[in-house]
Amino acid sequence: MVLLDGKKVSNDIKNEIAEQVKKMKDNGEKVPHLAAIIVGNDGASLTYVASKVRACERVGFESTMVRLSNTTSQVELLDKIKELNENPDIDGFIIQLPLPKQIDTQKVLLAVNPDKDVDGFHPMNFGRMALDMSTFIPATPFGILELLDRYGVDTQGKHTVVIGRSHIVGRPMSILMGRKGFPGNSTVTLTHSHTKNITQITSQADIIISALGVPNFLKAEMVKDDAVIIDVGITRVPDDTTEKGYRITGDVDFENVSKKASFITPVPGGVGPMTIAMLLKNTLLARERQI
Ligand code: GUN
Repeated sequence: MVLLDGKKVSNDIKNEIAEQVKKMKDNGEKVPHLAAIIVGNDGASLTYVASKVRACERVGFESTMVRLSNTTSQVELLDKIKELNENPDIDGFIIQLPLPKQIDTQKVLLAVNPDKDVDGFHPMNFGRMALDMSTFIPATPFGILELLDRYGVDTQGKHTVVIGRSHIVGRPMSILMGRKGFPGNSTVTLTHSHTKNITQITSQADIIISALGVPNFLKAEMVKDDAVIIDVGITRVPDDTTEKGYRITGDVDFENVSKKASFITPVPGGVGPMTIAMLLKNTLLARERQI
C-alpha cells in the first residue's frame, strides 16, 4: 500500500509556485493577488479561509480577506463581488461556501467575472471544463488529479466510482476522470443518495473517490483488493480527548480499507492540503492570464 501524501505533494507545489513568484518579483512584475469573501461565522469555513490566506503568504502572493456579517444581504454581497471584479489589483477571488440561507448561491456564483473565478464554479468555466477546454478546474478535483498524476496512478480504462454529486467535488470529478487525457480516460460511475446496491458498485471499482461527508462510510467489504482510494471527507466528529473538542474524520474506514488498497489518501494530510495548493495554482494562472 502506498500512502498518497497530500501534505508532501502540496508542499512541493507551493515551493514550485514560490519559485515562480520570486522570478516575477525579480523581474519587477506584480505578484498574484487572491481575495476571499467569507460571509458569517461558520467555524470550519473560517479555518479554511485562514489556511488559504496563510498559504498565500507562504508563496509570496498578496491576499485580501473580506469578512461580511451573517446578516449580509444578497445586494450587499453582489456589490462586493462587483468591486472585486473591477479591481485591477485582484487577480482572482473566491466566495467561501456554504453561504447563509438568505443568499442565492447560484446568483452569486454567476456574478463572478469568469476570468477571476479561481474556484472554477462559474457555469462558463464549468462548461469549459466539461468540453475539454482550458479553464480553472475546481481546486479539490484539480488537487486529486495532481495527486494521481504525481504518484503515477494509472487511470486509463479503469473503472472509477465517485461517491457524491456535489457541485464542488463529486460532479466535476466524475467529468474529469472521464475526459480524454491523463489522468482521465476512466469509465466513470457517479453514485449518490438514490443509488441502489452501492456495495455492488464500489466492489467493482478500480478507483473510488468518496466525497460524501459521512464518517467511516466506506468499509473494507465494499472495496476490492488493490483498489485506489481517494477520501475527500473532512467531517468534524466531537472528541473530548482532543484540544479542539473534535477530530477530522474521513469517509473511509482507513484502518481496514488501507489493508486492501494499492494507494490511499489519509485524512487529514491527503486531499485537504492539495485543495489549497491548487487554489494557489489557479491564482497564478489567473495572474499570468493563461486561461
Ligand atoms: N467550501 C468547501 N470547499 C470549498 C471550495 O473549494 N471553495 C469555496 N469557495 N468554498 C468551499
